[in-house]
Amino acid sequence: MTGNLLVRGGTVVLPTGRREADVWIDKGRVAAVGPKLAVPPGTPELDARGRWVFPGVIDSQVHFREPGNEHKEDLATGSTAAIAGGVTSVFEMPNTSPSTTDGDAILEKLRRAAGRMRTDHAFFLGATAENADQLGEWEHTPGCCGIKVFMGSSTGDLLVWDDENLERVLCSGTKRIAVHSEDDPRLKERYRQLVEGAPVTEHPHVRDVETAVRSTTRLLDLVERTGRRVHLLHISTAEEVELVRERDLGDLVTTEVTPNHLFLVAPDCYLQHGTYAQMNPPVRDQRHRDALRQALVDGFFTCIGSDHAPHTLEEKAKPFPHSPSGIPGVGTTLPLLLTAVRDGWLTLEQVAEFTANGACRVWEPRTKGCLEVGRDGDLVVVDPEVTQELPLEWLHSKVGWSPYVGTRLAGWPMTTVLRGRIAWHEHAPVGDPAGVPVLF
Ligand code: DOR
Repeated sequence: MTGNLLVRGGTVVLPTGRREADVWIDKGRVAAVGPKLAVPPGTPELDARGRWVFPGVIDSQVHFREPGNEHKEDLATGSTAAIAGGVTSVFEMPNTSPSTTDGDAILEKLRRAAGRMRTDHAFFLGATAENADQLGEWEHTPGCCGIKVFMGSSTGDLLVWDDENLERVLCSGTKRIAVHSEDDPRLKERYRQLVEGAPVTEHPHVRDVETAVRSTTRLLDLVERTGRRVHLLHISTAEEVELVRERDLGDLVTTEVTPNHLFLVAPDCYLQHGTYAQMNPPVRDQRHRDALRQALVDGFFTCIGSDHAPHTLEEKAKPFPHSPSGIPGVGTTLPLLLTAVRDGWLTLEQVAEFTANGACRVWEPRTKGCLEVGRDGDLVVVDPEVTQELPLEWLHSKVGWSPYVGTRLAGWPMTTVLRGRIAWHEHAPVGDPAGVPVLF
């Protein structure tokens, strides 16, 4: 299902610059971008005067919990939370229950998504020691964006912690591998030493800088040896930024940062939000946050992923360390980045780069892009005049909480367009869910 649409008179923001222009989408694909376009009579129009028109956000790291934990989120609610935040494509992680560890499991997720998801979507294949040799075959399943490796234990039981099996994974297939990089032996040792009753402010010390650096060092050694392309998810330390820079492995290594690591800071976030600010790898102190912000500004990071990781209020209320790690966020990435523009440390163009173009550079989807002619007509129209505090009702995750409720906004996504169809407008869905698989 695709649409025809003329988005009239907005400020089109692309990674390369911004200009007053119309966007004409014909049969779902961008047909032209330019001033005062003449289009076939009868083409539906959306008035974007006074608004910013961004490429649809591509969130390449979300956890939507289906199958197995639909009480936290499901593909329908997760994609609703996404489209409400200007997200038009999501790439979903394999730590569901059961885990997504073969081609059939990907096809099963695609079946469940059909007619229920409001965004386009693709799914990661989880690597294990058992399936390592077949990853190269299953990574070609349609709708599979790539492979995901957990080097450190997090939510779920996916784990490949040792160099021998990691190397087998890196030698199986060719698609880029997304990596959660924390050293599992060190994690196990440090959780053993943690005293019962320790406060959640200990979280970034249990999963410390050395845990991240040790793992990333081992990974980069393996990347150098095997020549396999990897994508380092949610980098959380200044030291890893330095390490990746020093090793200078070019396109073999792409990188992601999450809004949580850019907009929360320890210990304040733990004092304010308790275990609701707990995620893996942890939000750390200001030295790291400042280094990550600077690295983003400098162009070190390829993209921003939300790591939307919903757990219910009741689950999060358990005492640390029994509280699950993860923060919902698929709907707040774009609004938070707009506050960074207001505060003067990011440009609108950088926002377009990190929310849309970056993920395309990493995962190379066939028809997605940044409003280039011939690509999918996915976009989001932002009203820069919305400056109120974020209310919970504007977020649509099943879990019903976010550490960002109350944040003073600097713009809000009012209309989200998916392949030429208005899919979300002024806080409400439009039409039936029409998301389709993203192909690579
Ligand atoms: O905090 C996290 N939560 N980090 C992960 O790696 C997994 C995620 C989840 O699925 O809950």
